[in-house]
Amino acid sequence: MRRLMVAGNWKMHGSRAANAALLTELDLTLKAEWPIDMVVFPPSVYLADTARRLTDGVIGVGAQDVSAESAGAFTGQVSASMLKDVGCLYTLVGHSERRQLNREDDALVARKFAAVQGAGLIPILCVGETLQEREAGNTEGVVARQVDAVINMHGIGALAGSVLAYEPVWAIGTGRTASPEQAQAVHAFLRGRIRTQDANIATELRILYGGSVKASNAAELFSMTDVDGGLVGGASLSADEFQQICAAAAAR
Ligand code: PGA
Repeated sequence: MRRLMVAGNWKMHGSRAANAALLTELDLTLKAEWPIDMVVFPPSVYLADTARRLTDGVIGVGAQDVSAESAGAFTGQVSASMLKDVGCLYTLVGHSERRQLNREDDALVARKFAAVQGAGLIPILCVGETLQEREAGNTEGVVARQVDAVINMHGIGALAGSVLAYEPVWAIGTGRTASPEQAQAVHAFLRGRIRTQDANIATELRILYGGSVKASNAAELFSMTDVDGGLVGGASLSADEFQQICAAAAAR
């Protein structure tokens, strides 16, 4: 049985004071004995501080983005080894907001994926279609292309120990969640596609769902066979919501 994961993507929200208050509340409410991985993704400027506060191992820390480069004249960028140095365990790569707003293409995302693994961190590869692509019947084509970019550049073995996150762009921050059946269909498609290349990797791979996950819909999403947790944005900024989502994952 794959261990479920609940990841809280804070995006560009927070402050030292607000983060401290949220982490204190999470520390009190999230249970160490829950058999799931719980991770928060603060803005990069707060990563070191967050990691220092979370030393008991109940909540892990991850970055929202990373450079594809390892070091050098790349003003404004942060390398994977720097993220590891300040206590990160995970990094998102290819979040749709980075793909859309920062024009990150599949090739750059695939390079970032390898940079993260090279530094000994776990990449969470985000994939997902826009509403237009879904309505054109192209959902599977889009998510396959996004995953294939990594496989073609680094081999199927690169997916071992990594995490996928299916995040339909039309469901992110819109309050419009994919139905459990819609999520399951895409997760099963992705797992099935990977299975044709490596059955073990496909069985072990965790595929998170993201896009307006909240306390009220988490349990039904997590009840789906191929949904192995959630990548939670807005709802992860409320300790109470995040706690309930984690509890739903722990109860599966
Ligand atoms: P949301 O964001 O939960 O606010 O829709 C999810 C994400 O972008 O990771």
